[in-house]
Parts: sequence; structure tokens; C-alpha cells
Amino acid sequence: MSGSRKILVLNGPNLDRLDLRDSLIYGSMNFAQLTDFIFTSAKALDLNVEVRQSNSEVEIIGWLHEAADGENPVILNPAAFTHYSYAIRDAAAMLPSPLIEVHLSNPLAREEFRHTSVISGVAQGTIGGFGPDSYRLALIAMKEMI
Ligand code: DQA
Repeated sequence: MSGSRKILVLNGPNLDRLDLRDSLIYGSMNFAQLTDFIFTSAKALDLNVEVRQSNSEVEIIGWLHEAADGENPVILNPAAFTHYSYAIRDAAAMLPSPLIEVHLSNPLAREEFRHTSVISGVAQGTIGGFGPDSYRLALIAMKEMI
């Protein structure tokens, strides 16, 4: 395992029920399978990751504070919070280490309310539209930065 700090891969609301959502948009993996995929991808890149999911804005903000204090790089799929949570944005803005925003789907190709991300402006970059591979691509990009 590389000497770099643990990357926190944080996931927002409803991603725990991935397999019950529209499979044309989100594919057929459940969250446990997505988590396995992220771990396998991280291992291949010699990266240390921890994957978490919460439906609670409060909990996600707490995790971002933890990442700020621990100087952990963060890969964040804020799910629907992407589009309106200024509180998550403000917490993300305090991260001293890189932040990459990820989405399974391509929000820009979907309903208009998904075209706004209040998170993108405080992230190093955003990767969306590649299904689970969005996370793998984010890990590759993160490896370059840390
Ligand atoms: C999502 C896209 C969001 O618009 C949506 O609310 C989600 C998942 C994605 O990964 O494609 O819950 O973040």
C-alpha cells in the first residue's frame, strides 16, 4: 500500500438502494457491489480507501470535517445533495486535500434541476456518466494529485 493518506469515498442519499433505482440510469450493481468495485480498483492502483454512504446531510458534513482534520483526500458522490446543499459545499470548501466529485450518471444529460452542482466549484474536478467507472477514473486522477 502506498504511503499516502487514506482516501475517503463518501456517498450521499439513496445510493444505498442503488439496485432499486432506474437501472437504465444507474446500472445493475447494488451498493455492496459498487463498494467492492471501488476497493478492487483502489487495490490495483495501490491506494488506501474507505467507502461510506449516508442519507444524512449532517453525517456527510461530519465526515467532511473529519477529512479536513485528517487531511484525507475525498471522492464525493453527493447524490441529490449535489444540486442544493450549500452546507455540504461549505464543508467541502474547507478541505485542505483534493476533492473529486463523482456521479454514476451524467447529471448534465438529465433533468434540468440536475444541471446545477453547488459542489463542483469547490472540487478539483468532476467525473460523471461512466457508471462505477466514474469512481475508478476518480481514483486514477486522485493518485496523480496526492
Ligand atoms: C447521482 C446523480 C444525482 O443527480 C442523483 O440525485 C443521485 C445520483 C449519480 O451518481 O449519478 O442520487 O449523484
